[in-house]
Amino acid sequence: MDLGLENKVALVTGAGSHTGFGKGIALTLAREGCDVIVIDKDGEGAEKTAEEVKTTGRKALAFRADVTRNDEVNQAVKAALAEFGGIDILVNNAGASTPPKAFVEKTEEEWKSDIDINLRSVLICTRAVLPQMLARKRGWIINISSGVGTMGLANSSIYSAAKAGVMAFTMALAKEVIGQGVNVNSVSPGLGDTGFLRSSNVLKTAETPPEFIKHVNADIPVGRMTTPQDIGNMVAFLASEVSSDIVGQIFDVDGGKIIKF
Ligand SMILES: NC(=O)c1ccc[n+]([C@@H]2O[C@H](COP(=O)([O-])OP(=O)(O)OC[C@H]3O[C@@H](n4cnc5c(N)ncnc54)[C@H](O)[C@@H]3O)[C@@H](O)[C@H]2O)c1
Repeated sequence: MDLGLENKVALVTGAGSHTGFGKGIALTLAREGCDVIVIDKDGEGAEKTAEEVKTTGRKALAFRADVTRNDEVNQAVKAALAEFGGIDILVNNAGASTPPKAFVEKTEEEWKSDIDINLRSVLICTRAVLPQMLARKRGWIINISSGVGTMGLANSSIYSAAKAGVMAFTMALAKEVIGQGVNVNSVSPGLGDTGFLRSSNVLKTAETPPEFIKHVNADIPVGRMTTPQDIGNMVAFLASEVSSDIVGQIFDVDGGKIIKF
């Protein structure tokens, strides 16, 4: 199947993590023929991903920017547009969580951090990129949410609420802009062995211990965690010409962890 992604320009936020979903998304889109703009608050990580994108033969640009900051995002998007002329695909992937803690113990600074990085960032990046999509009557926005936004996760109440907000924003914006040539969908990953997991309070290790992986895998119907390639595949499909009848949907890519009617 030809996805028709050749020569599209994609911007992927949070693609600077070596083990992260964002890098998997960036490289999958590049292999399908997209040029890729990488944004991450980790500038060095963003550069490394951009270098890997270039090995596929596609163009890449890296920006160090904090996606919770309007000024930094707008500056990066402006520079990317000057280089590429347009952005066809936006993948709002950057995300993080404050350490797991009972709701009553979470400080308002922690509320703000979880909401800013997981929900407000999606609004900021979408506002920066959407106007030129509407002007060109062409665009694909894919928001990375999380299964915890559907199921809820104890001790991660604000993160769960922010991810549910991303899903609701996806549905509402899709209804608003589909008639203007812009499609919006969301991918909701299952647990992945990324920087997110390794920096969480549970692990705090560079490598995830095998016994932890075994324990987690036992609870997933397909028997393994979600990989950056799994997420990259779904994002590429949703950003393609072949999925144009799919609008405003949330897709669980999680090995069967959430199966709903
Ligand atoms: N790993 C999982 O189990 C899992 C499950 C469901 C959803 N997710 C979601 O997947 C997405 C990707 O996370 P990941 O698991 O690949 O983690 P990761 O930590 O490997 O990657 C996240 C990237 O986002 C960047 N980032 C964080 N805050 C930022 C900011 N303010 N500005 C710019 N960049 C910022 C980080 O530097 C990092 O490169 C996130 O939205 C996360 O919530 C992850």
